[in-house]
This record gives sequence, structure tokens and C-alpha cells, in this order.
Amino acid sequence: MSVFHSIEVHSYRFDNNVWLAPMAGFTNFPFRKMCYDFGAGVTFSEMVSVEGLIRDNKKTLKYIERVNENDIIQIFGGNYNSFYKAAKILLENFNIKILDINFGCPVRKVIKGEAGSFLLKYPDRMSSIVKAVKDAGIEIVSAKIRAGFDKEDLDNIIPALNKAGVDIITLHARLAVQFYSGVANRFFIQKARNLTDKILIANGDIKTPEDVENVILSTGADGVMLGRIAIEKPFIFLMVNNYFKDVSYKEENIDVKNVIVNFVKNYCDYYKNENIIGIRGILLGMIKKFPYARELRDKIARVKTSYDFFTLMEEVCYD
Ligand SMILES: Cc1cc2nc3c(=O)[nH]c(=O)nc-3n(C[C@H](O)[C@H](O)[C@H](O)COP(=O)(O)O)c2cc1C
Repeated sequence: MSVFHSIEVHSYRFDNNVWLAPMAGFTNFPFRKMCYDFGAGVTFSEMVSVEGLIRDNKKTLKYIERVNENDIIQIFGGNYNSFYKAAKILLENFNIKILDINFGCPVRKVIKGEAGSFLLKYPDRMSSIVKAVKDAGIEIVSAKIRAGFDKEDLDNIIPALNKAGVDIITLHARLAVQFYSGVANRFFIQKARNLTDKILIANGDIKTPEDVENVILSTGADGVMLGRIAIEKPFIFLMVNNYFKDVSYKEENIDVKNVIVNFVKNYCDYYKNENIIGIRGILLGMIKKFPYARELRDKIARVKTSYDFFTLMEEVCYD
């Protein structure tokens, strides 16, 4: 099989094996749509609280609109009952049949709620949560994990997920206590590969089409998930598609300014609101390679509306 290929799970077929990572504060609907249009095989939502879903919190419901059938909603929480109830709501009210469970978030507030990476310390609880989502009738259950909380513990974590009937495992190849420090450890991916025959997706510090190829070949993972690089270059998915389809391309030829302007327009259209404070982080990421990026940074950190932003873009010297 070639390195770049589609992935089939039960009745689902994902176009390709290079996926957009879930990123709270970033992977909103318009951002996922942009990455999908650039050729991401699958996109993931920001994490959504199961407790919020159960309370029918309007703010939470806004997170679950999907770009298409292969747009996966990620949920987080702490126990069987809440996951079961939330998954039932998503299935019955929104016809959602694929869910991803967050077992990797290291943020203190999430850990305090005994959710995210806290659960890596208790593989039995992970198992029961995967079962809850399956029991609720969700067809494909995906689990996003790290290699352990404060020590590598894949020998316990992966069998617990296998046993519970997980379909997809994405491994961010770091420990939770590392947050984003150090370099993702590809040996963790190799080790996970030896512990599961489920779909395995490698994640962490994969930044170029060549990285995608190397990681898949060296670890035996079925695919990869790209996070921070997609904030800087959402067109990384186009670059990967071109690389594997042997289409000659030059990254320099991508009109980044146009990509950003279109994204802002689509964002405002989608939310029917000209306020773009919530996407300053994405804009700051996307202008990193602009000429005069340093001067622009300070200005973007203050833009409030799309009008402010477009005016600023008009001023950008782009030769
Ligand atoms: C700003 C930000 C927000 C994130 N939010 C989530 C999240 O909601 N759920 C999740 O599973 N991982 C989240 N992550 C982790 C990423 O999905 C990914 O595992 C991590 O960034 C490593 O991949 P990368 O090196 O390609 O960025 C987040 C990462 C960043 C940088």
C-alpha cells in the first residue's frame, strides 16, 4: 500500500490518512472547512464537554456542527454515565455516528475534572468510557491519547482500549506532564503499533510532507494527524496531497494573503458577525511567514473587526 491512502473503518471511508488535529480555540467550523478544502482527510472539532452537552448548553451545541460526515466531534469528560448520555444525545438528536474521546488534554482545569490526560492513569476508566460511547450506539469510537501521564504506560493503556472495542487510536507521542516540551518520541508510536491492530494515527511534531512519509514508514502507523503546523500553514494539506500525487509545487507560490483574507470572510459569514477577536490566534499563526511579520503581530493582536483586518491587509507590503 502506498504511504498516502484512504482509510476504511466499518461503513466509513476517509479520503486520506493525513488528518487535522483537534485544537481548542482554533479548529472552529470555518477553520476545519478550510483545511478540508485544502485536502485534509479528516478534521476534528475543538473539544466539547460531555457535561455541557447534557445540560444542553447553547454555547456547547454551537461546537457540534459538522463540515461533512468525516468531520469528527471530540468530547471530554470523566465518567461512564456522562459519556453515555452525551453520546446518546449526539446520536439521536444530531445523527452523529463517529466520536473522538479526549484522553490527552494536560490542562489543569480538565485534570481537576478527572478528564483528559488524568484518565491515562486509570486504563480501566478509559475502557469503561470507550464502552459507554459504544453502548450508546456510536459506530466509530476514536481515542486520542498520550503515551502516559507521568511515565510511558502504553502496555496498559492500549490493551484497555482494544478490549473496550475502540476503532481508532491517535497517539500524541509525549507524556501528559510534558505538555508540548521536548520532541515527540516516535518510539512510542512504534510501540503502540505492536500493541494494536486498530487504526493507529501518529501525532506530534509532524510538519512537512517528508515528515508524513518518514513517520508512516518508520512506525507502521496508518496515518498522521497535524496540529500546530496547520495553524501556520492550513495549506499544508495541499502540500501533502501534491507531494504524494507527484504534482510539482512550490510553497512560495501559495498566496498566503489570499488564504487569510478568504478565511476571515468565511469566518464572518459563518458566524454572521464581524467580530474576529476569537481568531486572532489563528491570524497570528498564519502571518508568521509574512514579510514584516513582527510589525504586523502587534497590530493583529489588537484587531477587533474584519474591517480592521482587511484595512491592515491592504497596507501590507507584499513584494
Ligand atoms: C492550541 C492547541 C489546542 C489544542 N486543543 C486540543 C484539544 O481540544 N483536544 C485534543 O485532543 N488535543 C488538543 N491539542 C493537541 C493537538 O491536537 C496535538 O495533539 C498537539 O498539538 C501535537 O501535535 P502537533 O505537534 O502537530 O501540534 C491542542 C494543541 C494546541 C497547540
